[in-house]
Amino acid sequence: MSELTDAERSLVEQAIEATNRSYAPHSHFHVGAAIQLQNGTVLMGCNQENAAFPAGICAERSAIFAAGAQYPDQPVVMLAIAARDEQGNFLEEPVTPCGTCRQVIIETESRFSQPMRILLYGQRHVYIIEGIRHLMPLSFTEF
Ligand code: THU
Repeated sequence: MSELTDAERSLVEQAIEATNRSYAPHSHFHVGAAIQLQNGTVLMGCNQENAAFPAGICAERSAIFAAGAQYPDQPVVMLAIAARDEQGNFLEEPVTPCGTCRQVIIETESRFSQPMRILLYGQRHVYIIEGIRHLMPLSFTEF
């Protein structure tokens, strides 16, 4: 964390804060996300579960879709993710986005022709990923 810029650290702290708003009565895995838009706006997301499991949504997509709904013309420039386990402890190693979220992040980047900086929080390390293509090469982009 000490090596991050102020803006990066602040976004990670907001992802950490967002884990407190997670609704995860089924998995007890509380994920928080924070995204920064090009105009400086920061939006939070967190996982929202449902007894009918597929009806729930991950933290990353809840934040990105909120941005799409509220600020459809604003590129997402940075995304931070944090997660707490069933015991309430933040993961030691960075949490990484699921495949579906990676697919959504890819389309968000291509929609705005701009990669986003992705900050994956773990107590031991924070990974900085410069664009989702590093996590999902050869993705599905056209049909
Ligand atoms: N989850 C996320 O919110 N983001 C991820 O990147 C991985 C998984 C959520 C989905 C579900 O509510 C819980 O974590 C357990 O899979």
